Amino acid sequence: MAAEQATIATAQGVFDRSEQIVSYLLEEDHTYLRREMPRLLRLMQRIRREECSLEVRSQLEELIELFNVFQHNEQTHMKREEREIFPGLLDGLAGLSLEQAVQIIGQEHQTFGFMFERFYAMLNVIEAELAHCATYRTLRDGLTSLAQRLKEHIWLEEQLLAALVIFTPAAV
Ligand SMILES: [Fe+2]
Ligand SMILES: [Fe+2]
Repeated sequence: MAAEQATIATAQGVFDRSEQIVSYLLEEDHTYLRREMPRLLRLMQRIRREECSLEVRSQLEELIELFNVFQHNEQTHMKREEREIFPGLLDGLAGLSLEQAVQIIGQEHQTFGFMFERFYAMLNVIEAELAHCATYRTLRDGLTSLAQRLKEHIWLEEQLLAALVIFTPAAV
């Protein structure tokens, strides 16, 4: 009986801390992402005015197109986390199994990782001609900061989901 009480107390601790982590993830990180993505897109569009070769221009167009897709997918992903995943998990998995939630979130995170690999490959081509351009350098710094913050954000979300998997009592 004592062991059972201890388990419940530990699980309660995880859920109490989880609420604070979820607030940080959804309020601080998501606010930052929502502000930063349109700013980076505006910088990309400004760089279009620079003189460059056809190859660099086509990489720039592709970068804008892919970043638009990323922005759209990230916004959908954040809405899902805010409306369905995290509140649902903390309230007792309403309407979604934990396994489904972990799978959906994990797959979307992985896709973002692949997109960033493509962004950096494109930036390398663009940088060969536009390293002197201040707007380009601001874009590169902004994209690097966003990638780092997103990486930490994803790590924290996945750690939280893993902890919830361990401590969520099996359905009766
Ligand atoms: Fe998130
Ligand atoms: Fe996420």
